[in-house]
Amino acid sequence: MITRREMLIASGGLVIAGGTLSPRRTLAAEDAKQLIFHSTNPNNAEPELADLVQSWITPTKHFYVRSHAPNPVIDPEAFQLKVEGLIHRPSSLTLKSLSRFKSHSTTATLTCAGNRRAEYNAEGKVGGVQWQSGAIGNANWQGIALADVLKEAEVAPEAKHVWFEGLDEIEKGGGIIPFGGSIPIAKAMIASGPAAPLLANQMNDQPLTPDHGYPLRTLVPGYIGARSVKWLGRIVVSDRPSPNHYVAAAYKIVKKTDPIDWAESGPIYRYPINAAICTPQANAALTTGEVELTGYVLPTGRPGCRVEKVMISADQGKRWVAAKMIGQESEFCWQLWNAKVDVTAGTKRLLVKAVDSSGGFMPGRVPWNAKGYLQNSWYKLPVEVNSAG
Ligand code: MTE
Repeated sequence: MITRREMLIASGGLVIAGGTLSPRRTLAAEDAKQLIFHSTNPNNAEPELADLVQSWITPTKHFYVRSHAPNPVIDPEAFQLKVEGLIHRPSSLTLKSLSRFKSHSTTATLTCAGNRRAEYNAEGKVGGVQWQSGAIGNANWQGIALADVLKEAEVAPEAKHVWFEGLDEIEKGGGIIPFGGSIPIAKAMIASGPAAPLLANQMNDQPLTPDHGYPLRTLVPGYIGARSVKWLGRIVVSDRPSPNHYVAAAYKIVKKTDPIDWAESGPIYRYPINAAICTPQANAALTTGEVELTGYVLPTGRPGCRVEKVMISADQGKRWVAAKMIGQESEFCWQLWNAKVDVTAGTKRLLVKAVDSSGGFMPGRVPWNAKGYLQNSWYKLPVEVNSAG
């Protein structure tokens, strides 16, 4: 197995899992992604954890990328967003016509449902991108409110869900399909504030990069990243969730990947409270005594639900030390934290767990699921401790 370290090369270069060097063409050199690439074309990559906790806002170069197909090449002049389904006024909107809607900006954390997937392998191999704990990032997003576009479209009373379709082309089951997402109409109609879904055209005050969905994507605060559809080409208002593979089959918690389990399980929308240690790195050589740790914690993305505490243990959970929260707090954003704990020659792992204000918590163990989603058990960082002197 290739370790994080082996996959990373210094100074903004990249190595793919097969070990081949390949330069990026989608960004100017100074903005080039500084990530560990699990694959290229499609690009799937996560940052070094030490980079991830440098700032509350994740610079785009350190923001994970999750794509199921190569980036589509989209001509902004020819771009049209189709709005269809259970509405009275279907339309095809150019970027120019979208610019007449009121602009909104919001800060929100995006996280992949598969973040920390690789940890499930200890109990049974899970397929898919072998994410460690970097498939998460917090950015400023700018765009227009989905609700404003839907209001203008005059949604019919029987509408219950809103589907999103990307312009990417994914090979699946012998055919080509787009990536699709779906959210309940009540979420879609939130018109303002931090919970409002956006049709975003900017990330961190710059136009979206091709990796992040240029020219337009949805940004659904509080939902798993899969509902924030990149390269958005079509919105459909419906009385049911989208039949697209990534709603009807993938992104569900199943024990087996068979049609019955898929059919019996509903789409994942939300994520549970989660946290990780970002420094020191795994297997770091530490000296007995005080060690400083940093990391992130993400609340559930439910309005009113906040992180109550983050706790660290250096003795397998006998004693817990509270971490100090750093910087801003919002229900839809992560928080960074730091903590100091004493390690002894007997310390094999550093543990972190977190509790939220609604009583939600990170459990000691999460039941295994076949696609490796929503891993939020206590984060366990292996370390080597040598006696001082
Ligand atoms: N949208 C399209 N069109 N195609 C995709 O493959 N991946 C989804 C979502 N939107 C995807 C997509 C998933 S699984 C995640 S976690 C987020 O995009 C990742 O967004 P990012 O690459 O901007 O970090």
